[in-house]
Amino acid sequence: MSQENLESVLQESRTFPPPREFSARAHIAGMDQYRRMYERSINDPEGFWAEAAEELHWFKRWDRVKDDSEKPFFKWFVGGKTNIAYNCIDRHLDDATANKAAIVWEGEPGEERVWTYRDLHRQVSRFANVLKQLGIRKGDSVAIYLPMIPELAAAVLACARIGAVHSVIFAGFSAESIRDRVIDANSKLVITGDGGWRRGKTLPLKDVVDEAVQGCDCVKNVLVVQRDPGQDPFPHQWTEGRDHWYHELAESVDRLCPCEEMDAEDMLFLLYTSGSTGKPKGIIHTTGGYMVYTYLTAKYVFDLKPEDVYWCTADVGWVTGHSYLLYGPLQNGATVVMYEGAPNWPDNARFWSIVEKHRVSVFYTAPTAIRAFMKWGDEWPQKHDLSSLRLLGTVGEPINPEAWMWYHTLIGGERCPIVDTWWQTETGGIMLTPLPGATPTKPGSATLPFFGVVPAVLDAEGNDARAGYLAIKEPWPGIFRGIYGDPQRYKDTYWCRWNGAYYFPGDGARVDEDGYFWIVGRVDDVVNVSGHRIGTAELESIYVEHPAVAESAVIGVPHEIKGQGLVAFVLLRGSTSDGSDDLRKELNELVVKKIGKFALPEKIIFSADLPKTRSGKIMRRLLRDIATGQALGNVTTLADPSVIESLKEKYSG
Ligand code: PRX
Repeated sequence: MSQENLESVLQESRTFPPPREFSARAHIAGMDQYRRMYERSINDPEGFWAEAAEELHWFKRWDRVKDDSEKPFFKWFVGGKTNIAYNCIDRHLDDATANKAAIVWEGEPGEERVWTYRDLHRQVSRFANVLKQLGIRKGDSVAIYLPMIPELAAAVLACARIGAVHSVIFAGFSAESIRDRVIDANSKLVITGDGGWRRGKTLPLKDVVDEAVQGCDCVKNVLVVQRDPGQDPFPHQWTEGRDHWYHELAESVDRLCPCEEMDAEDMLFLLYTSGSTGKPKGIIHTTGGYMVYTYLTAKYVFDLKPEDVYWCTADVGWVTGHSYLLYGPLQNGATVVMYEGAPNWPDNARFWSIVEKHRVSVFYTAPTAIRAFMKWGDEWPQKHDLSSLRLLGTVGEPINPEAWMWYHTLIGGERCPIVDTWWQTETGGIMLTPLPGATPTKPGSATLPFFGVVPAVLDAEGNDARAGYLAIKEPWPGIFRGIYGDPQRYKDTYWCRWNGAYYFPGDGARVDEDGYFWIVGRVDDVVNVSGHRIGTAELESIYVEHPAVAESAVIGVPHEIKGQGLVAFVLLRGSTSDGSDDLRKELNELVVKKIGKFALPEKIIFSADLPKTRSGKIMRRLLRDIATGQALGNVTTLADPSVIESLKEKYSG
């Protein structure tokens, strides 16, 4: 968060109580009810979570709700057997939900497809049988690299149905990123598409996958979903024997596919995310705890009712798409809107036209999108009837009060509560959040903990502090079960502070006089660009692969729209400090090749030296000061203070 935002957050004193009409109909209707339920969830977590779990289907009831005997490796619903796809689909087939819309999809060019829960059952069962036909069995890992089309939902749920572990890879990642993930997860199958639409252009997904799986021995088959069956496919290459059209295999498989009975602790999915060091880590989520946690958070945070039309704008390639586009709302039997493309295609009002057309009532998006809408101007939302909206949400990064107020006024018509939800890939579901019918909100604060969550703001020694590190003191059902293949890294990263007593999410926070939490941003070397986590170490190691580069340091700087942007300081080999535009281009191409376009820096500064301590450690803090134009902090430990002046000149030059 920029200094400016930080200051406006520090001064923020406005409070918005939930509208009375909203509270009157809400699941959690006031602070008394919230406090009562919260106390219960903390004092009797096993009783609280057992009751939540009882709202769902289990083939066999659990023997124990929580097992923390091997902390920090937790188990939930030990001995229980269930299936999350059953709870998303089959559970709804016996009542009126069966014929209600489960997924309302809009393609970027404007097509529409609607799947009822019964349709979803058919689609997912068919998809699951195709997976089986390709030899996928319980426990196998399947990589999914698809655009935001309904088949993406079907593919994910089909894996869950047969107990295969899905590893969804956001369709903006490069071939090399896919390859790293496929190899790490040992995926046997990659599911992709012949294309999808983004800002008027098609995504050549199949080409990217072809490149990614070259030489990947683990991948036996590539399953290709045609975006527009019945029409000519997008241009693509084909490898006989390895590649299969989904629609061709789907013709001949059985229509029914029973759900695999999964142990509560069987792995449900892997999702790769950036850390502060080294390569991306495969975050492990298992079945039972994640299922109950996403179900209950979706129900209460979004106050879901049978008549709601719920739209989460996140891509399924990120955790928000997993938990709150698919698993959470579908377990609740909600109607979910799914949109394929860009928010500004064909014009800046696309999102609002979707809200109006589908009568969206609950809308969940990211602060970066809100800041872009603000910039585009008030006239775009004003062209549309947004009166169907009753609740708004944000996720992914701190929201500055100005953006919060704009969202509240222009989109929410001053009548919709806003839930600013703080959580992470690792937490599985929402951790800090207002409950919309209960919690008075303050612009920029994620307010209070969800049920069962015990947060604290601590100093390095573990004492309570007004400002410091965010910590979570007790396990919750949705907590990830570790990093795939690297239990030590799990301990080192998340349980490194306070003698391993509490979970350390990597965020800085502040707590105010009402006990409200204000997330300040990452305290590690992870930068949050438009809500996407990028490890600076990952970029740095890419730059040094270039023969002209000796060393580099990448930092996050405030960015008006993206929240944070990246700046790369690049030290060249030899005595030169001047990199050419060609070199800049080559470095950018390298990042696109290794990660994807979304990880490109705002600026590359070439330099003959970097500020270092006498022991040779790069002083990133000073680089940040230079980039933000702030007074320089302590420079006494610098080996060569003259470096700073030349960098300052270059930065502003
Ligand atoms: O820094 C926090 C920020 O996003 C990080 C988690 O990123 P990721 O795992 O990609 O998940 C994003 C979607 C859940 C956190 O460590 N973050 C997320 N939500 C908020 C936030 N920062 C401030 N306020 C939020 N509401």
